[in-house]
Amino acid sequence: MAYSRLHWGDILVIIGYFVAVIAVGIISSCRNRGSINGFFLAGRSMHWIPIGASLFASNIGSGHFVGLAGSGAAGGIGIAVFELNAIFILMILGWIFVPVYTAAGVYTMPEYLRKRFGGQRIRIYLSVLALLLYVFTKISADLYSGAIFLTQALPELNLYVAVIILLAVAALFTIGGGLTAVIWTDFIQTIIMLVGGFVLMIMSFIKVGGYERMVKEYFEAWPNTTKLHKGLPNDNYSYTDCGIPPANSMNLIRSAEDGSLPWPGIMFGLTISSVWYWCSDQVIVQRALAAKNLSNAKAGTILAGYLKFLPMFLIVMPGMISRILFSDTVGCADPDECFKVCGSRSGCTNIAYPTLVLEIMPPGLRGLMLAVMMSALISSLTSIFNSSSTIFTMDIWRRIRKGASEVELMIVGRVCVLILVAVSIAWIPIVQNISELFHYIQAITSYLAPPVCSIYVLAIFWKRTNEQGAFWGLMVGLVAGLTRFIWEFSYSPVPCGEEENDIRPDIISKVHYLHFGILLFGLVVIVAVIVSLLTAPIEDRYLHRLTFWSRFDTRERSDLDKEEAEKVAKKPPPVVAEVDYDSLPWYKKAFQWICGIEKMNDAPVFTEEEIKIQEMKQTSIHETKTWRRVLNVNAIVLMTLAIFVWGFWA
Ligand SMILES: *[C@@H]1O[C@H](CO)[C@@H](O)[C@H](O)[C@H]1NC(C)=O
Ligand SMILES: *[C@@H]1O[C@H](CO)[C@@H](O)[C@H](O)[C@H]1NC(C)=O
Repeated sequence: MAYSRLHWGDILVIIGYFVAVIAVGIISSCRNRGSINGFFLAGRSMHWIPIGASLFASNIGSGHFVGLAGSGAAGGIGIAVFELNAIFILMILGWIFVPVYTAAGVYTMPEYLRKRFGGQRIRIYLSVLALLLYVFTKISADLYSGAIFLTQALPELNLYVAVIILLAVAALFTIGGGLTAVIWTDFIQTIIMLVGGFVLMIMSFIKVGGYERMVKEYFEAWPNTTKLHKGLPNDNYSYTDCGIPPANSMNLIRSAEDGSLPWPGIMFGLTISSVWYWCSDQVIVQRALAAKNLSNAKAGTILAGYLKFLPMFLIVMPGMISRILFSDTVGCADPDECFKVCGSRSGCTNIAYPTLVLEIMPPGLRGLMLAVMMSALISSLTSIFNSSSTIFTMDIWRRIRKGASEVELMIVGRVCVLILVAVSIAWIPIVQNISELFHYIQAITSYLAPPVCSIYVLAIFWKRTNEQGAFWGLMVGLVAGLTRFIWEFSYSPVPCGEEENDIRPDIISKVHYLHFGILLFGLVVIVAVIVSLLTAPIEDRYLHRLTFWSRFDTRERSDLDKEEAEKVAKKPPPVVAEVDYDSLPWYKKAFQWICGIEKMNDAPVFTEEEIKIQEMKQTSIHETKTWRRVLNVNAIVLMTLAIFVWGFWA
């Protein structure tokens, strides 16, 4: 298949972009030496605009562009419900979860669990689960979507070669000191990605002739093979119906039996996975917790909510247009044909966005878009690598081997990343065979995340939930979720037209993953409630301000896990730059010299009283009346708008 290769202008732009990213990274890491984490955990000081923007930016990535557009091409605008649903969940984050976390005075989710339940095993388990989710939903999906872009741009490239190129660049960046993890490069990247997305959206609408034409032509976007079969005298419909867009492609609300987006699954199952993603995942929650005060956090979630309307127009509809313009490749139906186009027998809709970028953007801009997608992806990979090696060494390895030395931890961290990468690469053939990347990510989330969601919901709303209940709920949920996960992926997906070869049992082929998520949530709640009731409750004095109902409680709280808490408090702060300048390698010396950071600022020293006052201010969830009213009204307006959009394309 002959795709336009890159123009030399594109290559120049790509090189220029990467040089610029590295330069910006160096300059701003000189200025404040701030990583995203440092930046966000530095204290509660953020205004609502950066909060809203970064909530949105940390959610959207190149995987989104590939996945959402691909599903748009495969089945119409329906996939946008994933984005619309998030609007409501963001309100739940701002109005229910953030007040509790703030009042509890926590910065991280493990810290909340420690205070709420005490003990270690829940946190260790959640760390392991985080690694699993990283491998199966983030690393492999990111690598795969990056590789699609690369192989579409350079058709002679093999998928695995593309993956290895991406990994090599990510490794270089990680070794280079996490330069990409600088907040500004991420921010600029997201902005360019969105601006590029806007340009591409406008160009694709112009190309197809407007919204009305898109709707009409989408339903006629059949590949040639389908047209030929349809024309044969001996019509074979079971076969030739493949490649025809579903009749409900312009509907957001679909019947309960719909194979891809049944409404009960969207209404409840998706809400469960989304509560996990938006309200209990560290990456997201820490952004909201960085707000100056609760009003700013809420305003930030409202802003992010408005931004969540964008993907439907910016990504999903261009994906549909891509199928119209390239029905033979993007919309291919014949398994053999598809294999020729994109190396997968179950469809090629995943190439919708890359194809659109490469085919209709002008040279130069095309290179820019490609560069932004690649660098967003690489920065997301490096931060996943960083955090997974931290999780593994700090939360898991240090507990197994108490006396591990720094060097040992460092080596273990690196080895952990290598293993994760190896597993992810081994998993890519499975991802490649999935027809829709976005559904794949959501399915895995629905198998692994609902137990966590139910434990958080119980922890916040029912003070009787105790450590035993939470832990055994999680364990039962893990077994049930893993069973379905492994069972489902032990069968290869069935390409269109070969349904009679479907040997999967009904429980897998008929129970939608979102419905499974609902069942899983219910199961875990039942187990957790029963086990909690059978075991001793946690005394009230440990729980002030840790549940939704006690968030305004001002009584002194005892610490459930006193020893652990003291150990954490007594632990000397991590050594930042206490290294012998002369023993540094030359490039680090040069770096320090350029940045002029030989002398580090000492942390200011506070008296005990000052710390108390500081703490009071940080954990306050007081809001002024005006702010509260304005925000409530805004939230209602936003949700009404979301319901309107939902209803308009019902
Ligand atoms: C329809 O297609 C299937 C699968 O290719 C084939 O097995 C079957 O014989 C076809 N039926 C007719 C009537 O052509
Ligand atoms: C929260 O911060 C805003 C400024 O961003 C301020 O106007 C408002 O009064 C603050 N609310 C409280 C309760 O301090």
